[in-house]
Formats: sequence, C-alpha cells, structure tokens
Amino acid sequence: MQVVVLNGANLDVLARRDPAVYGGISLSELETRIYEWASELGCHVRCRQTNHEGEYIDWCHDALDWADGVVVNPGAWTHYSYAIRDALELFQVPIVEVHLSDIEEREEWRRSSVIADLAAKRVLGKGPDGYREALGFIVQQVGAAP
Ligand code: DQA
Repeated sequence: MQVVVLNGANLDVLARRDPAVYGGISLSELETRIYEWASELGCHVRCRQTNHEGEYIDWCHDALDWADGVVVNPGAWTHYSYAIRDALELFQVPIVEVHLSDIEEREEWRRSSVIADLAAKRVLGKGPDGYREALGFIVQQVGAAP
C-alpha cells in the first residue's frame, strides 16, 4: 500500500512557527515520525512539501497513478485554493485532510476549508499525531476495500 503525504505552504519552516500553535517540531522531525508510523502500520509513504501551488498540484497528478491513499495538509491553501481542490477531486482513493492546529478554533478565515467535503476524514488540532491517525485510517479503509 502506497500513501502520499503532501504538506503545503510554510510547513517547511514549521520549527520557526509559533510553538504554542504548531508545537515547535521541524518538518524533518515530522516526516521521520511519519515514516516510522508507516512502517509500523505496514504501508509505504512518500512525503513531499512545497511552497509552490503548481508543484503541489503536479504532485497530486503524479500520485493519481500510484497512491492508494492521500494525506494532505495544504497549509493556507486549504482556505482558498480551488486549483488544489480541483486536483484532489481527481482522486478515487481516500483523502485525509490533516491540520496540526485546530483550524475551527482559530481566526474566522481559517475556519473554512475548500477541500473538506472531499476528505473521507479530517483530523484537526492533534499536532503530529494527526498524521498517524490519518495513516491508520487509510490503512484500515484500503485494507478493508474488496
Ligand atoms: C495549518 C493551518 C493553516 O491555517 C495554516 O495556514 C498552516 C498550517 C495547520 O496544519 O494547522 O499553514 O494547515
């Protein structure tokens, strides 16, 4: 089972962002944990991060050919990028939307997600562990598929 984890804008500087909101973890620490969780769960993961919306979309298109599940944290694009939404709409495999922070408990503009209805599951405000929950969900869903 192959899962793609796509982190978007400003997640490369996670360690520099407000630790009260994002926990002070770096992207590479987060990705290390994701790879460990994936091996515990028996799936293969490819983690990607970009600050460029077009590149994010290209990676979605690439993953259409091989991913059995998709974990997305598009960062601020979550709130307004219809182009990323259109790319995610192409997937026929489960999508899990993850946010480190609870976007529903923050500023008004963060409360809307243009991808929420495409997600089989949303994990908000659970920090890095949210990615583990997302992977576990995909493994369960895809493993259970006929
Ligand atoms: C985020 C929440 C977004 O509102 C924000 O723009 C981010 C990170 C999160 O993981 O909590 O960059 O997606």
